[in-house]
Amino acid sequence: MRKDQNLGEYLRSQGVSRRGFLKFCSATASLMALPPSAVAQVAEALAAARRPSVIWLSFQECTGCTESLTRSHSPTVESLIFDAISLDYHHTLQAAAGHGAEAAREAAQEENKGEYILVVDGSIPVDNPAYSTIAGISNLDMLKDSAKDCFAIVSVGTCAAFGGLPGAAPNPTGAVAVSDIITDKPIINVSGCPPIPVVITGVLAHFLTFGTIPELDALGRPTAFFGQNIHDRCYRRPFYERGEFAETFDDEGARKGWCLYKLGCKGPITYNACATVKWNQGMGFPIQAGHGCIACSEPRFWDKGGFYDALSTGDWGTREALLGAAGAGAALGVASAIRARSRKKKAMAEEEA
Ligand code: SF4
Ligand code: SF4
Ligand code: F3S
Repeated sequence: MRKDQNLGEYLRSQGVSRRGFLKFCSATASLMALPPSAVAQVAEALAAARRPSVIWLSFQECTGCTESLTRSHSPTVESLIFDAISLDYHHTLQAAAGHGAEAAREAAQEENKGEYILVVDGSIPVDNPAYSTIAGISNLDMLKDSAKDCFAIVSVGTCAAFGGLPGAAPNPTGAVAVSDIITDKPIINVSGCPPIPVVITGVLAHFLTFGTIPELDALGRPTAFFGQNIHDRCYRRPFYERGEFAETFDDEGARKGWCLYKLGCKGPITYNACATVKWNQGMGFPIQAGHGCIACSEPRFWDKGGFYDALSTGDWGTREALLGAAGAGAALGVASAIRARSRKKKAMAEEEA
């Protein structure tokens, strides 16, 4: 995208039809929980948007977050939106290396003071900042330097948002989240291990559209994507309500697509858009593939309990505190559903006997 182009001009030059663009605007408005009447406003704002500068820093991470974003989008309108930002620094994607790369970061910060978006994936080691360095600069120093003049920070992935895998016990590097260090800038936590690509582009689209950060929940996550838990939108919910649970991954219940609660599904306490937005361009999500949710978008999910242990075990806190009023009802529902299922099985066994 040329500097003198706005997004509408750029998309037209890439062959994106008005119809295709409006379709994306409609999906974006819906993702941002805006009413259908807002589509025209979103389209107008996005078409007029100029390319914002984005500096992307990768610290203690596995590159899964970047892979998630780049692998999932062949040329779609979303990827064009991603192209439409000025990605001025990204270790994995940039061609420049060494001093040239660092000079590009410094120049982008200087030229776009107060306006650039800082994206971070990975956690930051603080026990000894020398555990992770880039160009001889510790992650801690680079984060502080790049954050000081940014408009806002997007913490991409559970590592950056909450400490994630590097912060799991015994946390040998003293890994912390971005928000543990930077306290004077707006921070948007796009958690998930990795996060859903369209959620990352959705946050950027919101910024492109409104020039503001989206509404956030208590953990700093955009409510448009993290406002509902997986369980509330899960297509296996009817089985849960009827007390029909798979007991093993290859039993009759598993084959029939029954609820995975007893196999460790953490859907009832996990807030993410997997059950609605889904993965791989809407193809599916972990539960649809037959595996329970492991709560990858929640803080400390590595340490709270076994991935295959039922939610009622482990260090997930009290069910009431975790689930809130509505969820507590659901949890109690699980208990009664399991009891009902056991009663039904017992009655069937007695009948057969
Ligand atoms: Fe990798 Fe997950 Fe951390 Fe992203 S959040 S860097 S996918 S471990
Ligand atoms: Fe779906 Fe898991 Fe809830 Fe069962 S426990 S309905 S599999 S989210
Ligand atoms: Fe993660 Fe659960 Fe979605 S494991 S990818 S939040 S279904």
